[in-house]
Amino acid sequence: ALIVRHRMRSSGRWARAMAILREFEEKCGTPIGKLRQVADAMTVEMHAGLASEGGSKLKMLISYVDNLPTGDERGLFYALDLGGTNFRVLRVQLGGKEGRVVKQEFTEVSIPPNLMVGTSDELFDYIATELAKFVVTEGEGFHLSPGRQRELGFTFSFPVKQLSINSGTLMTWTKGFSINDAIGQDVVMELTKAMERKGLDMRVAALVNDTIGTLAGGRYFNNDVAAAVILGTGTNAAYVERAQAIPKWHGLVQSEEMVINMEWGNFRSSHLPITEYDQALDADSLNPGDHIFEKIISGMYLGDIVRRVLCRMAEEAAFFGDTVPAKLKIPFILRTPEMSAMHHDSSPDLKVVGNKLKDILGITNTSLKTRKVVVELCNIVAMRGARLAAAGIVGILKKIGKDAVKEGDKQKTVIAMDGGLFEHYSEFSKVLESTLQELLGEEVSSRIVIEHANDGSGIGAALLAASHSQYNDIEES
Ligand code: GLC
Repeated sequence: ALIVRHRMRSSGRWARAMAILREFEEKCGTPIGKLRQVADAMTVEMHAGLASEGGSKLKMLISYVDNLPTGDERGLFYALDLGGTNFRVLRVQLGGKEGRVVKQEFTEVSIPPNLMVGTSDELFDYIATELAKFVVTEGEGFHLSPGRQRELGFTFSFPVKQLSINSGTLMTWTKGFSINDAIGQDVVMELTKAMERKGLDMRVAALVNDTIGTLAGGRYFNNDVAAAVILGTGTNAAYVERAQAIPKWHGLVQSEEMVINMEWGNFRSSHLPITEYDQALDADSLNPGDHIFEKIISGMYLGDIVRRVLCRMAEEAAFFGDTVPAKLKIPFILRTPEMSAMHHDSSPDLKVVGNKLKDILGITNTSLKTRKVVVELCNIVAMRGARLAAAGIVGILKKIGKDAVKEGDKQKTVIAMDGGLFEHYSEFSKVLESTLQELLGEEVSSRIVIEHANDGSGIGAALLAASHSQYNDIEES
Protein backbone atom coordinates (compact mmCIF):
# COMPACT_ATOMS: atom_id res chain seq x y z
CA ALA A 1 0.00 0.00 0.00
CA LEU A 2 2.88 2.27 0.76
CA ILE A 3 4.23 1.89 -2.75
CA VAL A 4 0.88 2.54 -4.30
CA ARG A 5 0.62 5.68 -2.27
CA HIS A 6 4.08 6.67 -3.33
CA ARG A 7 3.15 6.39 -6.94
CA MET A 8 -0.07 8.28 -6.47
CA ARG A 9 0.56 11.68 -7.93
CA SER A 10 0.03 14.52 -5.54
CA SER A 11 -2.95 15.84 -7.48
CA GLY A 12 -4.48 12.37 -7.38
CA ARG A 13 -4.03 12.22 -3.63
CA TRP A 14 -5.72 15.51 -3.16
CA ALA A 15 -8.66 14.52 -5.32
CA ARG A 16 -9.03 11.27 -3.40
CA ALA A 17 -8.91 13.10 -0.05
CA MET A 18 -11.54 15.54 -1.23
CA ALA A 19 -13.72 12.69 -2.41
CA ILE A 20 -13.59 11.17 1.08
CA LEU A 21 -14.44 14.53 2.62
CA ARG A 22 -17.33 15.22 0.23
CA GLU A 23 -18.81 11.80 0.69
CA PHE A 24 -18.71 12.27 4.46
CA GLU A 25 -20.25 15.72 4.12
CA GLU A 26 -23.07 14.37 2.05
CA LYS A 27 -23.84 11.59 4.52
CA CYS A 28 -23.87 14.12 7.37
CA GLY A 29 -26.40 16.29 5.59
CA THR A 30 -29.16 17.78 7.71
CA PRO A 31 -31.46 19.61 5.30
CA ILE A 32 -34.47 21.18 6.94
CA GLY A 33 -36.81 18.43 5.76
CA LYS A 34 -34.70 15.81 7.49
CA LEU A 35 -34.58 17.84 10.68
CA ARG A 36 -38.37 18.05 10.67
CA GLN A 37 -38.51 14.28 10.38
CA VAL A 38 -36.11 13.96 13.29
CA ALA A 39 -38.18 16.37 15.39
CA ASP A 40 -41.36 14.46 14.58
CA ALA A 41 -39.71 11.16 15.38
CA MET A 42 -38.56 12.59 18.72
CA THR A 43 -42.15 13.56 19.58
CA VAL A 44 -43.44 10.13 18.56
CA GLU A 45 -40.82 8.36 20.66
CA MET A 46 -41.61 10.58 23.64
CA HIS A 47 -45.22 9.43 23.48
CA ALA A 48 -44.12 5.81 23.17
CA GLY A 49 -41.69 6.05 26.07
CA LEU A 50 -44.36 7.58 28.30
CA ALA A 51 -46.94 4.99 27.29
CA SER A 52 -45.19 1.95 28.67
CA GLU A 53 -41.97 0.83 30.31
CA GLY A 54 -39.59 -0.10 27.50
CA GLY A 55 -42.02 1.31 24.93
CA SER A 56 -39.25 3.22 23.22
CA LYS A 57 -35.50 3.68 23.06
CA LEU A 58 -36.32 6.91 24.85
CA LYS A 59 -36.56 5.81 28.45
CA MET A 60 -38.56 8.85 29.55
CA LEU A 61 -37.63 8.26 33.18
CA ILE A 62 -39.83 9.43 36.01
CA SER A 63 -37.75 11.66 38.28
CA TYR A 64 -40.04 11.81 41.32
CA VAL A 65 -39.63 15.55 41.14
CA ASP A 66 -43.20 16.80 41.05
CA ASN A 67 -42.54 20.18 42.60
CA LEU A 68 -39.93 22.52 41.27
CA PRO A 69 -38.25 25.03 43.59
CA THR A 70 -40.43 27.87 44.79
CA GLY A 71 -37.85 30.22 46.25
CA ASP A 72 -38.84 29.46 49.83
CA GLU A 73 -35.99 26.98 50.34
CA ARG A 74 -33.84 27.84 53.35
CA GLY A 75 -30.78 26.52 55.07
CA LEU A 76 -27.40 25.00 54.32
CA PHE A 77 -27.28 22.29 51.69
CA TYR A 78 -24.65 20.41 49.79
CA ALA A 79 -24.65 19.12 46.24
CA LEU A 80 -22.45 16.62 44.51
CA ASP A 81 -22.34 16.43 40.76
CA LEU A 82 -20.99 13.28 39.11
CA GLY A 83 -21.34 12.59 35.44
CA GLY A 84 -18.44 13.72 33.32
CA THR A 85 -14.71 13.89 33.49
CA ASN A 86 -14.89 16.07 36.60
CA PHE A 87 -17.07 16.04 39.60
CA ARG A 88 -18.11 19.04 41.58
CA VAL A 89 -19.01 19.55 45.19
CA LEU A 90 -20.98 22.56 46.23
CA ARG A 91 -22.38 24.08 49.38
CA VAL A 92 -24.99 26.74 49.35
CA GLN A 93 -26.75 28.79 51.97
CA LEU A 94 -30.32 29.36 50.86
CA GLY A 95 -32.13 32.36 52.25
CA GLY A 96 -35.69 31.99 51.07
CA LYS A 97 -37.41 34.45 48.72
CA GLU A 98 -35.58 37.56 49.92
CA GLY A 99 -32.15 36.06 50.31
CA ARG A 100 -32.12 33.45 47.55
CA VAL A 101 -28.58 32.12 47.25
CA VAL A 102 -26.94 33.88 50.17
CA LYS A 103 -23.58 32.26 49.69
CA GLN A 104 -22.12 29.42 47.69
CA GLU A 105 -18.77 27.72 47.33
CA PHE A 106 -17.68 24.85 45.19
CA THR A 107 -14.72 22.78 44.25
CA GLU A 108 -14.07 20.69 41.18
CA VAL A 109 -12.06 17.49 41.12
CA SER A 110 -11.13 15.44 38.10
CA ILE A 111 -11.86 11.74 38.21
CA PRO A 112 -8.82 9.54 37.69
CA PRO A 113 -9.56 7.61 34.46
CA ASN A 114 -8.88 4.24 36.11
CA LEU A 115 -11.74 4.88 38.53
CA MET A 116 -14.16 5.24 35.62
CA VAL A 117 -13.68 1.60 34.75
CA GLY A 118 -12.89 0.09 38.16
CA THR A 119 -15.18 -0.99 40.96
CA SER A 120 -18.13 0.73 42.57
CA ASP A 121 -16.46 0.91 45.99
CA GLU A 122 -13.34 2.50 44.56
CA LEU A 123 -15.30 5.19 42.76
CA PHE A 124 -17.59 6.02 45.67
CA ASP A 125 -14.78 5.92 48.23
CA TYR A 126 -12.91 8.46 46.16
CA ILE A 127 -15.95 10.69 45.91
CA ALA A 128 -16.76 10.42 49.61
CA THR A 129 -13.17 11.28 50.49
CA GLU A 130 -13.21 14.41 48.34
CA LEU A 131 -16.60 15.38 49.70
CA ALA A 132 -15.39 14.93 53.29
CA LYS A 133 -12.36 17.13 52.55
CA PHE A 134 -14.68 19.83 51.30
CA VAL A 135 -17.09 19.63 54.21
CA VAL A 136 -14.37 20.33 56.78
CA THR A 137 -13.61 23.65 55.07
CA GLU A 138 -17.10 24.92 55.85
CA GLY A 139 -16.63 28.36 57.29
CA GLU A 140 -18.16 31.75 57.74
CA GLY A 141 -21.50 32.49 56.14
CA PHE A 142 -22.72 28.92 56.29
CA HIS A 143 -25.05 27.94 59.03
CA LEU A 144 -26.50 24.56 59.91
CA SER A 145 -29.41 24.70 62.32
CA PRO A 146 -28.43 23.07 65.64
CA GLY A 147 -29.04 19.37 65.89
CA ARG A 148 -29.43 18.89 62.17
CA GLN A 149 -27.67 16.46 59.91
CA ARG A 150 -26.10 17.86 56.76
CA GLU A 151 -28.07 17.04 53.64
CA LEU A 152 -26.99 16.55 50.08
CA GLY A 153 -28.48 16.67 46.61
CA PHE A 154 -26.75 14.06 44.49
CA THR A 155 -26.59 14.78 40.78
CA PHE A 156 -25.77 11.50 39.12
CA SER A 157 -25.86 11.94 35.37
CA PHE A 158 -26.49 8.46 34.06
CA PRO A 159 -29.69 6.54 33.37
CA VAL A 160 -31.22 5.66 36.72
CA LYS A 161 -34.45 3.88 37.45
CA GLN A 162 -35.65 6.08 40.22
CA LEU A 163 -37.44 4.36 43.13
CA SER A 164 -38.13 7.50 45.11
CA ILE A 165 -36.75 11.03 45.21
CA ASN A 166 -33.68 9.73 47.01
CA SER A 167 -33.11 6.24 45.71
CA GLY A 168 -32.62 4.67 42.31
CA THR A 169 -30.77 1.89 40.55
CA LEU A 170 -28.24 2.40 37.81
CA MET A 171 -29.51 1.04 34.48
CA THR A 172 -26.40 1.43 32.29
CA TRP A 173 -23.27 3.49 32.16
CA THR A 174 -22.63 6.02 29.40
CA LYS A 175 -19.89 8.52 28.50
CA GLY A 176 -16.91 6.25 29.01
CA PHE A 177 -17.81 4.98 32.47
CA SER A 178 -17.97 1.24 32.84
CA ILE A 179 -18.15 -0.16 36.35
CA ASN A 180 -19.96 -3.44 36.12
CA ASP A 181 -20.63 -4.13 39.76
CA ALA A 182 -22.51 -0.84 40.11
CA ILE A 183 -25.16 -1.72 37.53
CA GLY A 184 -28.45 -2.56 39.20
CA GLN A 185 -27.26 -1.06 42.50
CA ASP A 186 -28.94 1.81 44.31
CA VAL A 187 -26.40 4.58 43.80
CA VAL A 188 -27.58 6.44 46.89
CA MET A 189 -26.84 3.36 48.98
CA GLU A 190 -23.43 3.07 47.35
CA LEU A 191 -22.65 6.69 48.18
CA THR A 192 -24.10 6.45 51.68
CA LYS A 193 -22.04 3.37 52.49
CA ALA A 194 -18.91 5.10 51.22
CA MET A 195 -19.65 8.17 53.33
CA GLU A 196 -20.04 5.92 56.37
CA ARG A 197 -16.74 4.23 55.60
CA LYS A 198 -15.13 7.66 55.50
CA GLY A 199 -16.83 8.84 58.68
CA LEU A 200 -18.88 11.50 56.94
CA ASP A 201 -22.30 12.07 58.48
CA MET A 202 -24.52 13.23 55.67
CA ARG A 203 -27.88 12.24 54.25
CA VAL A 204 -28.72 12.12 50.56
CA ALA A 205 -32.05 13.93 50.34
CA ALA A 206 -32.41 13.96 46.57
CA LEU A 207 -30.99 11.93 43.70
CA VAL A 208 -31.27 13.74 40.37
CA ASN A 209 -30.01 13.63 36.84
CA ASP A 210 -28.07 16.71 35.65
CA THR A 211 -30.94 17.66 33.36
CA ILE A 212 -33.32 17.60 36.33
CA GLY A 213 -30.91 19.66 38.43
CA THR A 214 -30.57 22.17 35.61
CA LEU A 215 -34.33 22.38 35.21
CA ALA A 216 -34.80 22.93 38.95
CA GLY A 217 -32.00 25.49 39.12
CA GLY A 218 -33.37 27.25 36.05
CA ARG A 219 -36.90 27.39 37.42
CA TYR A 220 -35.65 28.87 40.70
CA PHE A 221 -34.50 31.97 38.86
CA ASN A 222 -37.05 32.02 36.06
CA ASN A 223 -40.60 30.80 36.23
CA ASP A 224 -40.88 30.27 32.48
CA VAL A 225 -38.30 27.48 32.37
CA ALA A 226 -40.05 24.43 30.94
CA ALA A 227 -37.19 22.23 29.84
CA ALA A 228 -33.48 21.71 30.32
CA VAL A 229 -30.92 20.47 27.84
CA ILE A 230 -27.38 19.34 28.56
CA LEU A 231 -24.78 19.55 25.82
CA GLY A 232 -21.54 18.50 27.41
CA THR A 233 -19.62 15.26 27.56
CA GLY A 234 -23.00 13.65 26.94
CA THR A 235 -26.33 15.06 25.91
CA ASN A 236 -29.80 14.80 27.40
CA ALA A 237 -32.99 16.70 28.11
CA ALA A 238 -35.67 16.94 30.78
CA TYR A 239 -38.99 18.71 30.80
CA VAL A 240 -42.14 19.17 32.81
CA GLU A 241 -44.90 16.80 31.73
CA ARG A 242 -48.54 16.69 32.77
CA ALA A 243 -49.17 13.68 35.00
CA GLN A 244 -52.18 12.85 32.82
CA ALA A 245 -49.89 12.41 29.84
CA ILE A 246 -47.83 9.65 31.49
CA PRO A 247 -49.86 6.45 31.05
CA LYS A 248 -47.08 4.21 32.39
CA TRP A 249 -47.25 6.04 35.69
CA HIS A 250 -50.92 5.32 36.36
CA GLY A 251 -51.93 4.37 39.83
CA LEU A 252 -49.18 6.45 41.29
CA VAL A 253 -50.41 9.84 40.21
CA GLN A 254 -50.50 12.16 43.16
CA SER A 255 -49.60 15.41 41.54
CA GLU A 256 -50.43 17.41 38.45
CA GLU A 257 -46.97 17.42 36.98
CA MET A 258 -43.89 15.30 36.81
CA VAL A 259 -40.43 16.08 35.55
CA ILE A 260 -39.25 13.56 32.98
CA ASN A 261 -35.63 12.67 32.31
CA MET A 262 -35.78 11.74 28.63
CA GLU A 263 -32.32 10.18 28.28
CA TRP A 264 -32.49 11.50 24.73
CA GLY A 265 -28.91 10.43 24.14
CA ASN A 266 -30.38 7.03 23.43
CA PHE A 267 -32.79 8.35 20.81
CA ARG A 268 -32.62 6.50 17.54
CA SER A 269 -34.34 7.01 14.23
CA SER A 270 -33.85 5.93 10.65
CA HIS A 271 -33.86 9.65 9.82
CA LEU A 272 -30.59 10.27 11.65
CA PRO A 273 -27.67 10.89 9.32
CA ILE A 274 -25.28 8.12 10.39
CA THR A 275 -22.01 7.49 8.58
CA GLU A 276 -19.65 4.55 8.53
CA TYR A 277 -17.37 6.53 10.87
CA ASP A 278 -20.17 6.78 13.42
CA GLN A 279 -20.81 3.07 13.11
CA ALA A 280 -17.16 2.31 13.74
CA LEU A 281 -17.05 4.70 16.70
CA ASP A 282 -20.13 3.03 18.15
CA ALA A 283 -18.74 -0.46 17.64
CA ASP A 284 -15.50 0.50 19.41
CA SER A 285 -17.31 2.22 22.30
CA LEU A 286 -17.97 0.91 25.80
CA ASN A 287 -21.71 0.87 25.07
CA PRO A 288 -22.12 -0.35 21.48
CA GLY A 289 -25.60 0.05 20.07
CA ASP A 290 -26.58 2.49 22.80
CA HIS A 291 -26.78 6.25 22.92
CA ILE A 292 -26.50 6.78 19.18
CA PHE A 293 -27.93 10.33 19.26
CA GLU A 294 -25.35 11.20 21.93
CA LYS A 295 -22.55 9.76 19.84
CA ILE A 296 -23.22 12.10 16.95
CA ILE A 297 -23.89 15.20 19.03
CA SER A 298 -21.97 15.38 22.27
CA GLY A 299 -18.57 16.55 23.39
CA MET A 300 -17.18 13.17 24.25
CA TYR A 301 -17.41 12.07 20.61
CA LEU A 302 -17.20 14.97 18.14
CA GLY A 303 -13.41 15.17 18.21
CA ASP A 304 -13.10 11.46 17.68
CA ILE A 305 -15.35 11.55 14.62
CA VAL A 306 -13.03 14.17 13.13
CA ARG A 307 -10.04 12.00 13.97
CA ARG A 308 -11.60 9.00 12.27
CA VAL A 309 -12.24 10.87 9.03
CA LEU A 310 -8.72 12.33 9.05
CA CYS A 311 -7.36 8.85 9.63
CA ARG A 312 -9.19 7.53 6.58
CA MET A 313 -7.91 10.44 4.51
CA ALA A 314 -4.38 9.71 5.69
CA GLU A 315 -4.66 6.00 4.97
CA GLU A 316 -6.37 6.14 1.63
CA ALA A 317 -5.23 9.43 0.19
CA ALA A 318 -1.92 10.09 1.93
CA PHE A 319 -3.46 13.29 3.19
CA PHE A 320 -0.62 13.90 5.63
CA GLY A 321 2.14 12.50 3.44
CA ASP A 322 3.47 9.05 2.73
CA THR A 323 3.04 7.64 6.17
CA VAL A 324 -0.04 7.64 8.33
CA PRO A 325 0.70 9.66 11.47
CA ALA A 326 0.76 7.04 14.23
CA LYS A 327 -1.06 9.19 16.76
CA LEU A 328 -4.00 9.56 14.43
CA LYS A 329 -4.84 5.97 15.23
CA ILE A 330 -5.23 6.54 18.95
CA PRO A 331 -8.91 6.72 19.95
CA PHE A 332 -10.02 9.96 21.61
CA ILE A 333 -6.61 11.59 21.22
CA LEU A 334 -8.29 14.53 19.48
CA ARG A 335 -10.65 15.97 22.05
CA THR A 336 -13.60 18.21 21.28
CA PRO A 337 -12.10 21.30 22.98
CA GLU A 338 -9.11 21.01 20.63
CA MET A 339 -11.42 20.51 17.68
CA SER A 340 -13.27 23.62 18.77
CA ALA A 341 -10.02 25.59 19.00
CA MET A 342 -9.16 24.59 15.43
CA HIS A 343 -12.67 25.33 14.21
CA HIS A 344 -12.55 28.85 15.68
CA ASP A 345 -9.08 29.66 14.37
CA SER A 346 -9.35 33.10 12.84
CA SER A 347 -5.68 33.68 12.05
CA PRO A 348 -5.04 34.09 8.31
CA ASP A 349 -2.57 31.21 8.17
CA LEU A 350 -4.59 29.01 10.53
CA LYS A 351 -1.79 28.92 13.04
CA VAL A 352 -3.89 27.29 15.74
CA VAL A 353 -4.80 24.44 13.41
CA GLY A 354 -1.15 23.97 12.50
CA ASN A 355 -0.08 23.92 16.13
CA LYS A 356 -2.80 21.54 17.24
CA LEU A 357 -2.01 19.12 14.42
CA LYS A 358 1.60 19.25 15.48
CA ASP A 359 1.15 19.09 19.26
CA ILE A 360 -1.64 16.55 19.41
CA LEU A 361 -1.06 14.39 16.37
CA GLY A 362 2.60 14.98 15.65
CA ILE A 363 1.83 16.19 12.13
CA THR A 364 4.27 18.88 11.08
CA ASN A 365 4.55 21.22 8.12
CA THR A 366 0.93 21.22 7.04
CA SER A 367 0.01 23.48 4.16
CA LEU A 368 -2.65 26.14 4.47
CA LYS A 369 -4.77 24.15 2.06
CA THR A 370 -4.59 21.12 4.33
CA ARG A 371 -5.45 23.17 7.40
CA LYS A 372 -8.46 24.61 5.65
CA VAL A 373 -9.74 21.12 4.99
CA VAL A 374 -9.34 20.28 8.67
CA VAL A 375 -11.43 23.31 9.62
CA GLU A 376 -14.05 22.34 7.07
CA LEU A 377 -14.22 18.86 8.55
CA CYS A 378 -14.70 20.26 12.06
CA ASN A 379 -17.49 22.40 10.68
CA ILE A 380 -19.28 19.46 9.09
CA VAL A 381 -19.19 17.43 12.31
CA ALA A 382 -20.19 20.32 14.58
CA MET A 383 -22.99 21.49 12.26
CA ARG A 384 -24.58 18.09 12.11
CA GLY A 385 -24.53 17.82 15.91
CA ALA A 386 -25.89 21.29 16.53
CA ARG A 387 -28.66 20.98 13.96
CA LEU A 388 -29.76 17.62 15.32
CA ALA A 389 -29.78 18.99 18.87
CA ALA A 390 -32.04 21.80 17.63
CA ALA A 391 -34.35 19.24 16.03
CA GLY A 392 -34.49 17.39 19.36
CA ILE A 393 -35.54 20.57 21.14
CA VAL A 394 -38.26 21.16 18.56
CA GLY A 395 -39.46 17.62 19.26
CA ILE A 396 -39.93 18.56 22.93
CA LEU A 397 -41.65 21.84 22.06
CA LYS A 398 -44.07 19.91 19.88
CA LYS A 399 -44.78 17.50 22.71
CA ILE A 400 -45.64 20.32 25.11
CA GLY A 401 -47.55 22.30 22.50
CA LYS A 402 -45.13 25.19 22.28
CA ASP A 403 -44.12 24.79 18.65
CA ALA A 404 -46.94 26.97 17.38
CA VAL A 405 -48.38 30.32 18.34
CA LYS A 406 -51.61 30.08 20.30
CA GLU A 407 -53.91 33.05 20.55
CA GLY A 408 -53.67 34.86 23.82
CA ASP A 409 -50.61 32.91 24.91
CA LYS A 410 -47.91 35.45 25.48
CA GLN A 411 -45.81 33.32 27.79
CA LYS A 412 -42.21 32.72 26.98
CA THR A 413 -40.88 29.20 26.97
CA VAL A 414 -37.41 29.09 28.43
CA ILE A 415 -35.01 26.23 27.90
CA ALA A 416 -32.23 26.07 30.44
CA MET A 417 -29.04 24.88 28.80
CA ASP A 418 -25.80 23.74 30.32
CA GLY A 419 -22.70 21.78 29.43
CA GLY A 420 -19.25 22.56 28.14
CA LEU A 421 -20.13 21.99 24.50
CA PHE A 422 -22.87 24.58 24.62
CA GLU A 423 -20.85 26.94 26.76
CA HIS A 424 -17.48 26.84 25.02
CA TYR A 425 -18.06 25.73 21.43
CA SER A 426 -19.57 28.93 20.09
CA GLU A 427 -19.95 27.76 16.48
CA PHE A 428 -22.00 24.89 17.84
CA SER A 429 -24.31 27.05 19.98
CA LYS A 430 -24.64 29.62 17.19
CA VAL A 431 -25.78 26.98 14.71
CA LEU A 432 -28.09 25.43 17.28
CA GLU A 433 -29.87 28.72 17.84
CA SER A 434 -30.12 29.62 14.16
CA THR A 435 -31.46 26.17 13.36
CA LEU A 436 -34.13 26.55 16.01
CA GLN A 437 -35.25 29.75 14.30
CA GLU A 438 -35.16 28.07 10.94
CA LEU A 439 -37.34 25.23 12.22
CA LEU A 440 -39.80 27.25 14.27
CA GLY A 441 -40.19 30.39 12.20
CA GLU A 442 -39.81 33.91 13.48
CA GLU A 443 -43.01 34.31 15.42
CA VAL A 444 -42.68 31.13 17.47
CA SER A 445 -38.96 31.40 18.00
CA SER A 446 -39.35 34.92 19.38
CA ARG A 447 -41.10 33.30 22.34
CA ILE A 448 -38.54 30.58 22.86
CA VAL A 449 -35.60 31.60 24.98
CA ILE A 450 -32.42 29.62 25.31
CA GLU A 451 -30.86 30.47 28.63
CA HIS A 452 -27.44 29.43 29.72
CA ALA A 453 -27.82 28.03 33.23
CA ASN A 454 -24.25 28.01 34.44
CA ASP A 455 -23.88 25.13 36.86
CA GLY A 456 -27.60 25.22 37.33
CA SER A 457 -27.50 21.54 38.05
CA GLY A 458 -25.52 21.94 41.27
CA ILE A 459 -27.77 24.63 42.70
CA GLY A 460 -30.76 22.71 41.43
CA ALA A 461 -29.73 19.56 43.28
CA ALA A 462 -29.19 21.57 46.48
CA LEU A 463 -32.63 23.15 46.07
CA LEU A 464 -34.24 19.76 45.61
CA ALA A 465 -32.38 18.49 48.66
CA ALA A 466 -33.85 21.43 50.57
CA SER A 467 -37.40 20.79 49.42
CA HIS A 468 -37.01 17.09 50.25
CA SER A 469 -35.23 17.63 53.55
CA GLN A 470 -36.05 15.28 56.40
CA TYR A 471 -36.71 18.35 58.51
CA ASN A 472 -39.39 19.82 56.32
CA ASP A 473 -42.28 18.76 58.52
CA ILE A 474 -40.56 20.16 61.55
CA GLU A 475 -41.17 23.79 62.39
CA GLU A 476 -38.32 26.16 61.59
CA SER A 477 -36.58 27.20 64.77
C1 GLC B 1 -25.65 10.85 29.30
C2 GLC B 1 -26.36 10.29 30.50
C3 GLC B 1 -27.46 11.21 30.96
C4 GLC B 1 -26.92 12.61 31.16
C5 GLC B 1 -26.22 13.08 29.91
C6 GLC B 1 -25.62 14.48 30.05
O1 GLC B 1 -26.52 10.87 28.24
O2 GLC B 1 -26.89 9.02 30.20
O3 GLC B 1 -28.05 10.75 32.15
O4 GLC B 1 -27.96 13.48 31.50
O5 GLC B 1 -25.20 12.18 29.55
O6 GLC B 1 -24.70 14.52 31.09
